[in-house]
Amino acid sequence: MRLFRSQSSAYRFFGLTFSTLFAALAISFTAAAQTLPTHISFDPETHIFRIDSADSSYIFGVNESEQLQALYWGKRLADSDRFSPAKSMPEVASFDAPSTTTQQEYIGWGGVLYVEPSLKITFPDGNRDLRLKYLSNHIDGNHLSIQMKDISREIYVTLNYDADGETGILRRSAEIENRTGGPVSIEEVSAATWNLPRGTDYRLRYLTGRWAGENTVQEQPLNPGKTVLESRRGTTGAQNAPWFAIDHRNENDSEHGDVWFGALGWSGSWQITIEQDVLQQVRVNGGPNSFDFAYHLAKGAKFQTPYFYGGYSDQGVGGASRLLHRYELDSILPQAPKPKVRPVLYNSWEATGFDVTETGQMALAEKAASIGVERFVIDDGWFGQRKTDHAGLGDWYVNPQKFPNGLKPLIDKVHSLGMDFGIWVEPEMVNPDSDLYRKHPDWVLNFDGRPRTERRNQLVLNLARPDVRAYVYGFLDKLLNENQIAFLKWDYNRNWSEPGWPAVPVDEQKNVYVDFIRNYYSILAELREKHPGVEIESCSGGGARVDLGVMHLTDEVWPSDNTDAFDRLLIQNGFTYAYTPGVMMAWVTDSPTWVNNRTLSLQYRFLSSMQGSLGIGANLNKWTPEDFDTAKKMVAQYKGIRETVQHGSLYRIITPEHDSQQSVTESVARDGHEAVVFAFLHSSRENYPYPRIHLHGLNPTARYRITSLDGKLADDTPETASGAWLENRGVDVDLKGDFQAMSFHLERLP
Ligand code: DGJ
Repeated sequence: MRLFRSQSSAYRFFGLTFSTLFAALAISFTAAAQTLPTHISFDPETHIFRIDSADSSYIFGVNESEQLQALYWGKRLADSDRFSPAKSMPEVASFDAPSTTTQQEYIGWGGVLYVEPSLKITFPDGNRDLRLKYLSNHIDGNHLSIQMKDISREIYVTLNYDADGETGILRRSAEIENRTGGPVSIEEVSAATWNLPRGTDYRLRYLTGRWAGENTVQEQPLNPGKTVLESRRGTTGAQNAPWFAIDHRNENDSEHGDVWFGALGWSGSWQITIEQDVLQQVRVNGGPNSFDFAYHLAKGAKFQTPYFYGGYSDQGVGGASRLLHRYELDSILPQAPKPKVRPVLYNSWEATGFDVTETGQMALAEKAASIGVERFVIDDGWFGQRKTDHAGLGDWYVNPQKFPNGLKPLIDKVHSLGMDFGIWVEPEMVNPDSDLYRKHPDWVLNFDGRPRTERRNQLVLNLARPDVRAYVYGFLDKLLNENQIAFLKWDYNRNWSEPGWPAVPVDEQKNVYVDFIRNYYSILAELREKHPGVEIESCSGGGARVDLGVMHLTDEVWPSDNTDAFDRLLIQNGFTYAYTPGVMMAWVTDSPTWVNNRTLSLQYRFLSSMQGSLGIGANLNKWTPEDFDTAKKMVAQYKGIRETVQHGSLYRIITPEHDSQQSVTESVARDGHEAVVFAFLHSSRENYPYPRIHLHGLNPTARYRITSLDGKLADDTPETASGAWLENRGVDVDLKGDFQAMSFHLERLP
């Protein structure tokens, strides 16, 4: 079963002709102006595969032991450059055979192997030895597939590589086929193994987090040994993001230097291992988490791994994230390659909690429309007997006390105000206090006769079960058929416990780790197909389900329940290392916040949220007329620049990391016609002026008009300046005090 829809729909971008590509690049100074055509080749004499794409080359060969051996990954080489045939590492000691020290593309666990394998299988006879050898290859445009096979058993592995011509990002995956006469058990499976050039000064960046504190950037030197980034929670989790970036630790400039990066597209338990071996070689493996893992692969069946995306940039970690953003917008998102700009939305969760009623929501809708909101979203509390989080999940009928006439009157009202309508759902969960659970107590993840641990008073429905999948798809389809709904906020407010599936034979029970996620993806895909206009947000009690897998099927994500605009600077900053601001929903909420009891001006809160996809989550019933005026003005401003913020090139000029007193981002429009800068100050100290802001990504010879969007530029700021001036001399802004913010705009002159 394929995890995603057809490659042609997922990769429409790859169909662009080179002339179209060059035409697009010619008008975009910020794009890699020197982009070269993608070229994939196999040299039958040297047995070397070469993928040259955008600014990178990825090269490997078949060595004398018929293993696939990594040879080079980095900046694009000249077409005329040649490689000698691959040759496995010489033996260094009886303890470390060449099979374990040779950097291989995809390794079966068998023979002498002490590094993380790409694939580990147990056969029914107890044999656990798997040695994969190269068999054949197929090249089709930007796609390369390679077939490997075990030395004696009928296990076939197809490695797939898809090169993106604009970013050089490779999408890799593996397909395991069982042609033996019986079932096998897959105990570890990677989508890909990435090998870095040998080096001893590497630094790893990764993201850690927790509820209300997602996406903290971590840095550490890579030393011998293994670092494991993972989730064992059944879903992506906020504790690590499935993303890594590795650069040289001597380079402290985030805009220059080599960076190798990758992101895994899997929304279940996952792992990425980053390992420096005994010869100080670095390899990165990624796929479903091998903890408690087993996948029963029936005879004749195939297992398709998720995708592991990898790329290279010589423009530092800033360049790496811009490549990822571009790729996500052009190739990953459901609306790729031309995602619509995100509408400004209103959601009353923080204002009303579960207390949603027809009249209350109508009153809020009127106020939201008056400030320019385009989408009105009703959150938790509209269904079943849902008065608190103790009951109702699973019973997806409209609550008759709160909405005596169904949802129609509210939806009509929202439409009459010129907005579209969205609604919250949490399809994979059930409260024990619900009709659904009373009727189907066997539908949840559980081990027979063992306790069922509740979190937030809810249990996880086992979506791997066909009847649960049918129920979930059925109620969502019905909801969308019966109501004019433009947007689903799909929530997921706990992680797994007791991940048992007692209804199937013992050796298939652990398939739950994969089948659950496949059904989740297939429901999203099917809903999108049946209701093509409906957009979906992935939310998991904040940002606990964000990855490139779910981003392929949803239009935006909720990064954090923490909506404190100052905390958000840090959370949003970390988010953008891996994910585009184009999907990053950011609400303006009330002050002081429930999170920190911190008071921030409405202007500060707006500017913080305007760095992503703007939403309003404040209690509009408490706003003053001045608040409405400010909001109206800022929503209008945002609409003027949102295309650039959401789809442009992001430069993190000063990051809020390491308790920085300042934070500055710049977004440059794809076609270079404008740029917008957001600058924040935590606290002034000892009369120091705000650091000068040196801009990036502009055309040095073009002239730009500089205007303040909000807040004050220094008095001596010229009205216009060249790109060279803006980059080298830089702009001064007048920010003093505590929690101050401003924004300015650059418009390229004809
Ligand atoms: C968690 C989400 O992150 C919130 O925005 C809200 O939708 C609540 N769940 C509702 O229960």
